[in-house]
Amino acid sequence: MLFSKTKFIETKEYRRFAEFCDACIKYKYIGICYGLPGVGRTLSSRYYSNWDFIEKQIAYKNAKEIGTNADEKILEARTIFYTAPAIRATKMTDEINAIGGRMGMVRTMYKMVSRGEEEYSTHSYEDIDLIIVDEIDRLKVQNLEQLRDIYDRNDLAMILIGMPGIEKRLARYPQLYSRIGFAHEFDKLSKDEAHHILEYKWGELGLSIKLEDFSDYEAITSIIKITGGNFRLIQRLFTQIERILEINNLETITIEVVEVARDSLVIGIK
Ligand SMILES: Nc1ncnc2c1ncn2[C@@H]1O[C@H](COP(=O)(O)OP(=O)(O)O)[C@@H](O)[C@H]1O
Ligand SMILES: [Mg+2]
Repeated sequence: MLFSKTKFIETKEYRRFAEFCDACIKYKYIGICYGLPGVGRTLSSRYYSNWDFIEKQIAYKNAKEIGTNADEKILEARTIFYTAPAIRATKMTDEINAIGGRMGMVRTMYKMVSRGEEEYSTHSYEDIDLIIVDEIDRLKVQNLEQLRDIYDRNDLAMILIGMPGIEKRLARYPQLYSRIGFAHEFDKLSKDEAHHILEYKWGELGLSIKLEDFSDYEAITSIIKITGGNFRLIQRLFTQIERILEINNLETITIEVVEVARDSLVIGIK
């Protein structure tokens, strides 16, 4: 696959997002982060929380496995990343508690095994500074209340991630809204940055296509125009481009190839 080795690129929007997270932690606020699908909200949250690593370390199936694949990252982990369930969010509090508990268990075990330190965490959120909840749009008001309750009972920050408009929807619930300190818009890539990434960061994007494969600058420019700086659309467009090059036995990305690729995309690109 084209994007199989995609590396995370620390974009300007990511850095803004990270500053937003830091600020929420500093003031122990609830923050809302809203942005259009595909701009990188989920990936940025996972990167900020080191979740690709933490998720694996806390996925133990029985007591014997606890901490066996842990490393120093668990000691630094201060953020829980949680995706709101698509249906039936009744167990949400339990699930988030369980993640916090597992992080504590693995941390305790790792300290014991690697350093001989024996200390037991006393509650689920020990050492946790921030809980990021993704896909907040899925939640009903009762579920939002559950989150507020977790926030109220613990000394931590919370970030709710959703689509544009969510900040207005939440404003209708004064119980929750009165606790919200910051709202942050996660924007798409700027034209300049999209250019920069397409020209210099092929490796990071995991693309098999190189700059030399473009016939001219115009082809790059049209990709940026078509995708409007949306990461997911860039990814989808390149998947089509690769397919079209393959089918037609072509080696160069011309503007025609880009346009055929665009036309073959089903949704999402106007
Ligand atoms: N900073 C980034 N570096 C590399 N690829 C990214 C980055 N942000 C997003 N992407 C790509 O865009 C896709 C969509 O990102 P995602 O975080 O799922 O968007 P959102 O949650 O905002 O809908 C990802 O699967 C990934 O391929
Ligand atoms: Mg997402």
